[in-house]
Amino acid sequence: MKIKSIQQVNNLANKIALVRVDFNVPIKADKVLDNYKIKKSLATIKFLMEKRAKVILVSHLGRPDGVDKKLSLKPVAAELGKFLQKNIRLLDVLDLKKTRTQIDKLFPSAVVMLENIRFVKGEEECSEQFSKELTGLADIFVLDGFAVAHRQAASVTGVAKYLPVYGGLLLEEEIEGLNRGLKSPKKPFVVVLGGKKMETKIPVLKNLLKKANYILVGGGILNTYLWAKGYKVGNSLVDKNFKKDILRYCSKRKVILPVDVIVGTKEGKLARATATKNLNLKNKDLAIYDIGPKTIRLFSHYIKKAKTLVWNGAMGYFEQHPYEYGTYSVARLVAARAKGVAFGITGGGETVEVLKKLHLISDIDLASTGGGSMLEYLSGKKLPGIEVLKK
Ligand code: 3PG
Repeated sequence: MKIKSIQQVNNLANKIALVRVDFNVPIKADKVLDNYKIKKSLATIKFLMEKRAKVILVSHLGRPDGVDKKLSLKPVAAELGKFLQKNIRLLDVLDLKKTRTQIDKLFPSAVVMLENIRFVKGEEECSEQFSKELTGLADIFVLDGFAVAHRQAASVTGVAKYLPVYGGLLLEEEIEGLNRGLKSPKKPFVVVLGGKKMETKIPVLKNLLKKANYILVGGGILNTYLWAKGYKVGNSLVDKNFKKDILRYCSKRKVILPVDVIVGTKEGKLARATATKNLNLKNKDLAIYDIGPKTIRLFSHYIKKAKTLVWNGAMGYFEQHPYEYGTYSVARLVAARAKGVAFGITGGGETVEVLKKLHLISDIDLASTGGGSMLEYLSGKKLPGIEVLKK
């Protein structure tokens, strides 16, 4: 699949580019806690600046219901300003006529940012009217935020109806990486799947069972499977809505299930390894919080022979000691293999967070900025934001 790329456009000088990025980043006390998504869009912003285009960045932050000062993009503009070594002006998103007059005064290579686009109801409703108003700000539209490509929104698919539309460098990198992994993966193709939100993981499991050689599961998928098989799982995170699906998919030979788990209290007390076949947690204070040491050894056997690797989702409650070992071990194994022989793809908030914490992110071929969007892509779904970019 070829997408229209901003790199193919001649003569960007003086053109006003509306660039949809995903700067939906964690913020605390007006400070950006994780600037990974911002860093990953710098290539596109700098490319447009070098070509002397005028750049209007558009992003959402959180899920506001109307204007919410706590979800202002001010800290994000400040963080971006540090990278570009200039002051990034935040323009009004509610009065786009006034904003247009400010844009008219911009010099080539200028970079400005609109305030949180979700302050306007028409954004998530993908309203025709708001899409047209946004269109009036620019000459071309660039989608760079892969993490929003699964959303039908005015600033993602709405404006694409009215403006020439191109993919940014980050978007291209993500699509190329995912396609390389999914379309013609070098075998063995090994997938590691964990985390919560079963409704997003089941379609991935279903789709990748057709392509992968092995799927190693942990986290909520494992808990739900064990519960569905009739084991007593105490207070473990389980999604009872997926009993049938989980029994169906996890009983496939390609799915490698943990042979032991770590159980304990939520606070990390009474932690001990238990063989999954002996699991019998009658006490509601106890739950499964990690995969066990024998499972780590078992998983390493598969990861170490992979030529293509996809990892999404934690193996357990890694935020609480001593439940981090499973997730950290998978991170180290995946990174080591991706640094060497395998083409490695990872994504999802927690997964990337762990890789960064362990300073392993640069060993991964594609550490996607996408959470939900990456999972939808791995599920084989068409992403509306990508569809509008197809040649
Ligand atoms: C993300 O963080 O995954 C994206 O910014 C999408 O956010 P949303 O789920 O609120 O649309």
